[in-house]
Amino acid sequence: MSEKENSPKAQPPLSPVHAWHYDMLIDHERNHFYETIIKNNCKDKVVLEIGAGSGLMSVLAIRHGAKKVYCCEANPLLAKAAELLINRMGMQDRITLIQGFSTNIPTDAIPKVDMVLHELFASDPFAEDVIHSLRDAKRFMKPEAIYVPEGIQLTYQTVQGHALRQELKFAGIELTEMTQLLGQVHPALRNNNNPGFPNKTYFLPKTSMESLVKNSFDHQEKNEALIGIDAIEVTYKIYDGQTEMQAAPFGLLAENRHWSTQFFYKTNPKTDHLHFCLNEQEMKLLVI
Ligand SMILES: C[S@@+](CC[C@H](N)C(=O)[O-])C[C@H]1O[C@@H](n2cnc3c(N)ncnc32)[C@H](O)[C@@H]1O
Repeated sequence: MSEKENSPKAQPPLSPVHAWHYDMLIDHERNHFYETIIKNNCKDKVVLEIGAGSGLMSVLAIRHGAKKVYCCEANPLLAKAAELLINRMGMQDRITLIQGFSTNIPTDAIPKVDMVLHELFASDPFAEDVIHSLRDAKRFMKPEAIYVPEGIQLTYQTVQGHALRQELKFAGIELTEMTQLLGQVHPALRNNNNPGFPNKTYFLPKTSMESLVKNSFDHQEKNEALIGIDAIEVTYKIYDGQTEMQAAPFGLLAENRHWSTQFFYKTNPKTDHLHFCLNEQEMKLLVI
């Protein structure tokens, strides 16, 4: 017998379940927000959930009156957890779980749905390829079907980069190179505001998922408060109708919230102009 034949059967590698997934499940503001918008929308609907994770949202959709839920989860370990939850809740006749990426599901594998439920938002709202997955999900949607949640709204505060730079040093060595990299400042370093800079929050226009899947994200604006400021702190609201929730709190990480804000250094501190756009290659938010 060859050595290969003698060796135990190779197991597929287990994909890890990241710590943020647990933090997310105990983020009660997030849980309540999602439960409210599921309840507001899912009655008598056929639902497709993309990225079911633990299975919590699909279970909530059935509990709040969805007629049938199809859900998919790319991570095999999470899909297993979702399957166990669905079975334990006795909902296996009303929730069909598919393990894998939504983009790999054949179009005729499920009937057309009334609603696509999604929670594919990282701290960078675009990083989990949400636009690509939701654009592809049109294949499964009736013409009048809706995305839940409906959209996002980017929001930012100005931050004194000077204070951030002072913080990051040791033994007289200032680590300025670290703070010059776009978006790479740890939120903990931000809590050092100059009292002369009130933390006013600025809002970009609301952007629906429906428009995001049709157009790329691109927004420019002028704001006088940006002059002399060399960094901004960015997060976003997720909204559905009148219901909304801010993803990350500004400033230090709040207890039981799992998203964090992102920092972007302005390449030109003198300008009052900001350009927010999506980097299509890396599916990341850029602020120039
Ligand atoms: C933020 S989590 C959502 C968790 C879930 N709502 C819960 O309550 O546990 C996003 C999940 O979507 C999965 N995912 C991302 N894109 C996907 C896709 N296109 N198809 C299937 N799963 C996807 C990831 O593996 C991840 O587990």
